[in-house]
Amino acid sequence: MKRWIVAAAGAGLLMSVTAADAQVPAKAIVRAPAPERSDPTAALPGAKTFNELCAGCHGARAVGAEGPSLSDEYWKHGRADADLEKAIRGGFPPTMAAFDLPAPQVKDLIAYIRTAFVATLVVDRSVQQVPAGVMRTEAADFRVETVAKLAAPYAFVFLPDGRALITEASGVLRVVEKGKLLPQAIEGIPIDKPLNGAAGRRILNIALHPGYARNGWIYLTIAEPSAVGRDVLMRLVRGKIQNGRWAEHQILFETLTGESSTARMAFDRDGYLFLTMGFSGNIYVGAPEDAPSLDLSDANGKVLRMHDDGRAPADNPFVNVEGALKQVWSYGHRQSLGLAFDANGVLWESENGARGGDEMNIIRKGANYGWPVVTWGHRYDSVPRIAMPEMDGVEQPVVSWAPSPAVSAIAFYAGNVFPRWKENLFVGTMKNRALYRIVLKDNRQVLQEEVLRGIDRIRDVGVGPDGCLYLLTDGGLFLRLAPAS
Ligand code: HEC
Repeated sequence: MKRWIVAAAGAGLLMSVTAADAQVPAKAIVRAPAPERSDPTAALPGAKTFNELCAGCHGARAVGAEGPSLSDEYWKHGRADADLEKAIRGGFPPTMAAFDLPAPQVKDLIAYIRTAFVATLVVDRSVQQVPAGVMRTEAADFRVETVAKLAAPYAFVFLPDGRALITEASGVLRVVEKGKLLPQAIEGIPIDKPLNGAAGRRILNIALHPGYARNGWIYLTIAEPSAVGRDVLMRLVRGKIQNGRWAEHQILFETLTGESSTARMAFDRDGYLFLTMGFSGNIYVGAPEDAPSLDLSDANGKVLRMHDDGRAPADNPFVNVEGALKQVWSYGHRQSLGLAFDANGVLWESENGARGGDEMNIIRKGANYGWPVVTWGHRYDSVPRIAMPEMDGVEQPVVSWAPSPAVSAIAFYAGNVFPRWKENLFVGTMKNRALYRIVLKDNRQVLQEEVLRGIDRIRDVGVGPDGCLYLLTDGGLFLRLAPAS
């Protein structure tokens, strides 16, 4: 049996972890009753050239195959027009040959790639197709209502009094009260330096202390730029709202990371805080076995567990491992954009794979999830290689998706207005702009339904005190799924 080697910096330790039984993802996908959108870019002059010369390696609609995806946010060689021209004319021997095409054809090809694929990378705030009328799905009929429109929101939480707090990239919290967005934001959250200039300062996720009603603690994760090494300083902070302003600010934990979009939080029943730290690894150049996600001294690619003040609990799995970060609970993760406990207290995590291999995992103490050595996805880097999907000692996902819908936030439905959704797992997606409902039995998927699609990139999902399901989109919509009748 293969043993798993963890390269903890300086410690050089060898460890093995228990193997999970491999689970075959069920294939019961029910499509949402939304019309397919037609593709106006298919008529562009460069489309024919792309399909003839490039799609064979880069995939239909450039989702990536033998060559890397040209439709996601990861560009090794730059994505300016000049970079694309250089790639086409120079190629990347020996894997991609140089193309000696007439200048107008290159120009059309670049225009096509830019319009059809690259443009979709930039959040297109005009694409917000909120369906009118009743949505009839497998287990519930509902309407989608727009509660509020915000500027670049990221996550939300409901307070016990029914108000919703929504984080906004500009560095404030917005308040929705009785279905209305209040004009006055919660200000005063200290941020040292905004990410990518003033427009890019980023408050990411938000969570309430389980004892919020007593102590008022609100937890935030904040991404700030860092001059050292990797490019983001990720902070876990907490504070309280006093007289409409942020107060009693405390920094509980911070780490450098190359992944600026994860840092999801969830509290368990005993009051421990779990925090995801992503590691995409697309720009990582070392051997996969040495990646930070597998290095116990590094917070990247981990699910962390801490006391409510950031300290590591004494019963964490690696507290006695020399050199290990004491907060580490599980490792070998990629981009974890969703984290939630189910009704039985089991912790679930959604993870973006690379070119295929998006995952839904159950998080177990001390377990290894394999990235970037073990994945159902493909690597992004220049040498296309077949993924290694399984290995002894490495946890298998409960659900895996290929191609990647880019799964984001997750929530278990615990309300009463949709009785047949009870305890179902709802999963937002970014690339697919869809909302999935997953029915689980004994921690396995028995059904997956697309209940909505085509709205926008879904950033956050949650259940309101009214039992309705709420969604937050990258384009800024705070939506409510309410019963149809
Ligand atoms: C034989 C397969 C193959 C074909 C055909 C091919 N490519 Fe590539 N392409 C690759 C591979 C492999 C890479 C990654 C090279 C590297 O990073 O070393 C690549 C890289 C690129 C990149 C850089 C992507 C990045 O991440 O920065 C661009 C742009 C690109 N190709 C465009 C094209 C276009 C446009 C065409 C059609 C004219 C094309 N390719 C045809 C295999 C191919």
